[in-house]
Amino acid sequence: MGAEDSRLDEVFDNLLTTLRNFVKENRITHDEYRRAVAFMTEVGQKGEVSLLCDVFIEVSVDAADNSGRSGTITTIEGPFYVHDAPMLNSPCVLPQRLDESGPVLLFTGTVLSSKGEPLPGAVLDLWQSDTHGLYSHFDIPKNEAPYNLRARVTTDRQGKFDVQTRLPAPYEIPKSGPTGALLAALQRHAWRPAHLHMKVEHSGHRTLTTQLFLKKDPWIDSDVVEGAVKQALIVDPVMHDDADDLHRRNFSEPYFTLSYDFLLEPAISKAA
Ligand code: DHB
Ligand code: FE
Repeated sequence: MGAEDSRLDEVFDNLLTTLRNFVKENRITHDEYRRAVAFMTEVGQKGEVSLLCDVFIEVSVDAADNSGRSGTITTIEGPFYVHDAPMLNSPCVLPQRLDESGPVLLFTGTVLSSKGEPLPGAVLDLWQSDTHGLYSHFDIPKNEAPYNLRARVTTDRQGKFDVQTRLPAPYEIPKSGPTGALLAALQRHAWRPAHLHMKVEHSGHRTLTTQLFLKKDPWIDSDVVEGAVKQALIVDPVMHDDADDLHRRNFSEPYFTLSYDFLLEPAISKAA
């Protein structure tokens, strides 16, 4: 038996014990059991397995998998990552529709090792909602705006990135499906505060999956994904509205700037 099989044996045994104890301790009725099975069936049929699991479970997986880690703090990936976004070199503008709305955000920073050495050639894989809280490939039909506000941005020779995008907006989990119905039944709102998602990668370093959250967001203290917002990941982009500056940059509305550095921990050595 391979190592993978023994891992499966161990965790599956443990999972069954936990679930059986849960049923016993809560005196789950047969009717409740059937309703739970029907709920999970609907979650599958409506394509919400990742959404549901990521709302309620992924925070714990992130904590378990990243405990003791150095460098920038991690948080959940969520259900809207697409692995093959366009590759761009910094400086760049994220792919967006010709009539993309929402304030411009100029997002800059450096990718560094946890010892503080800049990492040229690091990849900042970015994804976010648009100004209406919609994600491309999920809430916006794929052929309407492929890879909208998504890209894998390579850092320059100083390890810096410089990305023009749009401020994201709060995201409300769809109310029409089973995840929304469960939240409503629990009398919980379905909002996530506005956030930018990123995976930061560099050979020789452990990939970092995290998010940056906007401080002034109304949901910053009550994310539906409990525990996903962490203090060190809250940012407050600066607004710029000087008329001459806007004119020079050819912007018709005030824009925002945000600077954030990402620190990557060295990869775990595979050598025994
Ligand atoms: C979830 C995560 C997100 O980042 C998001 O935008 C919506 C939902 C989630 O954990 O399900
Ligand atoms: Fe998100």
